[in-house]
Amino acid sequence: MRRSRVFQIWGMPFPETSIFMLFLVMLFGYAYCADQYPEAGVQVLQRPYLTWEGNPDTSVTINWQTDKALKKVEVRYGSEPAQGSTKKYQYKAAGVSRTIDGMPEPRWIHSVTLTGLQPATDYYFIYGDGKKFSKTEYRFRTMGSGDMPFTFVIGGDMGPGPRTRKLVKAVASRNPAFAVVGGDIHYENGVIRNFRVCDMWLDIWLDDMVDADGRLIPMVHAIGNHEVNKEVPPSEPVEKRAPFYFGYYPQGGKTFFTRDLGSLARLVILDSGHIIPHAEQVDWLKSQLSSSENRWILPVYHVPFYPSHREFDGEPSALGRTHWMPLFEAANVRVAFEHHDHTFKRTKPVKAGVVDPNGITYLGDGCFGREPREIKNGDAWYMEKALSTAHFWVVDVRQDQLHCVAVDEENREFDTVTVSR
Ligand SMILES: [Fe+2]
Repeated sequence: MRRSRVFQIWGMPFPETSIFMLFLVMLFGYAYCADQYPEAGVQVLQRPYLTWEGNPDTSVTINWQTDKALKKVEVRYGSEPAQGSTKKYQYKAAGVSRTIDGMPEPRWIHSVTLTGLQPATDYYFIYGDGKKFSKTEYRFRTMGSGDMPFTFVIGGDMGPGPRTRKLVKAVASRNPAFAVVGGDIHYENGVIRNFRVCDMWLDIWLDDMVDADGRLIPMVHAIGNHEVNKEVPPSEPVEKRAPFYFGYYPQGGKTFFTRDLGSLARLVILDSGHIIPHAEQVDWLKSQLSSSENRWILPVYHVPFYPSHREFDGEPSALGRTHWMPLFEAANVRVAFEHHDHTFKRTKPVKAGVVDPNGITYLGDGCFGREPREIKNGDAWYMEKALSTAHFWVVDVRQDQLHCVAVDEENREFDTVTVSR
């Protein structure tokens, strides 16, 4: 029988079978990493994405990135298509550029906020430096101003990778008015040298967060722990602590804010203590809840009050229940969106620490691309359903009810809940 040859490496004997095994491990390791982070073909420059700095029914912010500074930042737009012919657009608007300190590669982020738009209207636009504009004409649609029903999607904890891309494609196939990310967007941890992770995530969004008619789907971002660089002390400016959250996505410069969706709903974006402590948002939250004028209040934050994977008594969960939950309950909130645990969950309706049909149903738990985690609190008193399943929620908002459907990465609906006022 042929005996395995033995090689000498740094004076140590290695049989050829062990070298072959090592080679296989390295090959599979490389293939796995390449699959997780397919850098090849990533292209984020000169491609537009939408955020909301102002009211979603009358404004939108158009953003794009370049590797060179622009003398002028300009968008040409109108409610009629003009096939990129610069003079045919009804309006033009100027914007601003910014950079992120310490970026290893030159990068400018340009933003133009359009205001005074008509609600529930399609707009067509091109963008550029005032002389040269994008060759492609893009389209967006403003939200309605009244009680027109709409659909949005929400999920959290994404990062780049094949699962994220599948989920984003499934989102776009459902033509939502906008998409909310409940924190932990790219997983760069606020570290500048990890900027390629942001690029890879953005590349997926730019490719696929477009509806069947070519409409760009606006994004709304809550902040999560993976947006923040823990090495940067809290005394530093927020732009240094969460450079990409603030640098890439203009939303008014804060980590807690509201956006009214016509007269139907108020999206309440909160910061689970990543930049601003829970307690410091309380007065503002009270004012936002009391002025909501019978709109559905839709709270979105990263760390769950009622976790499916992590400990119920974990500090950020307990802080949310202490500082915010009584305010939600007093304001008749019916559904809240939670993330961070990388699972699917739907709680029973809960109020004052017990199950109550008039309570709040908590939907989560942030598995919009990340590897699903084990369910540890499936038997908890508050849990209705929990699964290790990647997903997003599709929320249909109407005057009399909220209809929420969970969709998995194969675009299959696997859970649903309808909540009335
Ligand atoms: Fe998280």
